[in-house]
Amino acid sequence: MAQTSPSFSPSSIFLIIIVILCFSPNPSVSANTDSFLYGGCTQQQFTPNSAYESNLDSLLTSLVNSATYSAYNNFTILGSSAPDVVYGLYQCRGDLSMPDCAACVAGAVTRAGALCEQRCGGAVQLEGCYVKYDNATFLGVEDKTVVLKKCGPSVGYNSDAMASRDAVLTGLAGSGGPFRNGGSGKVRGMAQCTGDLSFAECQDCLGEAIGRLKNDCGTADYGDMFLAKCYARYSTGGSHGYSKAHEKSNGEGEKTFAIIIGLLAGVAILIIFLAFLRKLCEDRGK
Ligand SMILES: *[C@@H]1O[C@H](CO)[C@@H](O)[C@H](O)[C@H]1NC(C)=O
Ligand SMILES: *[C@@H]1O[C@H](CO)[C@@H](O)[C@H](O)[C@H]1NC(C)=O
Repeated sequence: MAQTSPSFSPSSIFLIIIVILCFSPNPSVSANTDSFLYGGCTQQQFTPNSAYESNLDSLLTSLVNSATYSAYNNFTILGSSAPDVVYGLYQCRGDLSMPDCAACVAGAVTRAGALCEQRCGGAVQLEGCYVKYDNATFLGVEDKTVVLKKCGPSVGYNSDAMASRDAVLTGLAGSGGPFRNGGSGKVRGMAQCTGDLSFAECQDCLGEAIGRLKNDCGTADYGDMFLAKCYARYSTGGSHGYSKAHEKSNGEGEKTFAIIIGLLAGVAILIIFLAFLRKLCEDRGK
């Protein structure tokens, strides 16, 4: 049997694995932030190679660059003539790190480009960020149009679960700031406004989203209510991360985890093999 040399004992391999696990990003979180939630485009189209297209390109570049240092920003690209003006904003989820925000916005811009080819305006919402651009201004305008509503399967009426869901949602409605994250027991809630709304507008928008969640999702085990400028979501799933409530994301998290475990097994085998080689060389040297 191959005996491992002292410097690569099984316990040191374990230590290496633990160190790698601690420093690798949380698989379920990173797999989730770029999941697609919804997208839409305007009917109007622009002419290829026009001044509008070049303005739109500089706008999208500005959005992606800005996301490396700020969770929200807006841009207006005037260009040389007034009819070619383009407006845009992005908003990252308030709990994302800057690198994750930048990666998410880059992903959303790519999605919008594919989805809204040659369209004047487009919007894409991923799990971790939102991007919107148009030639008509929408910056600083509150908009409570429902753009995505999803209610999970009904779990039947469970007064405890519903009471804590309602308490979490009430907590979200009452706390300030454009990003709100809360929970109680297994219930998680999250709410976000785009950064262009005033405090009062954000309150009003979230009030509407939360009211609709309670009303439309009834006793569902999770609910997502996305309005044009804000959203509110909850899950009663009992998992650590909010978005784990969705089965698709769960699968992705597990896949990432399986890949990491596979890589670790590969590293462990490599270390054992190296130790074996070293032992072999030492034996020859004697
Ligand atoms: C946006 O562009 C379309 C197509 O060029 C045009 O018909 C529309 O009037 C523009 N809207 C604004 C607000 O400029
Ligand atoms: C847009 O960005 C500018 C400069 O960053 C800022 O002063 C302005 O308040 C923003 N407008 C909105 C509506 O967010």
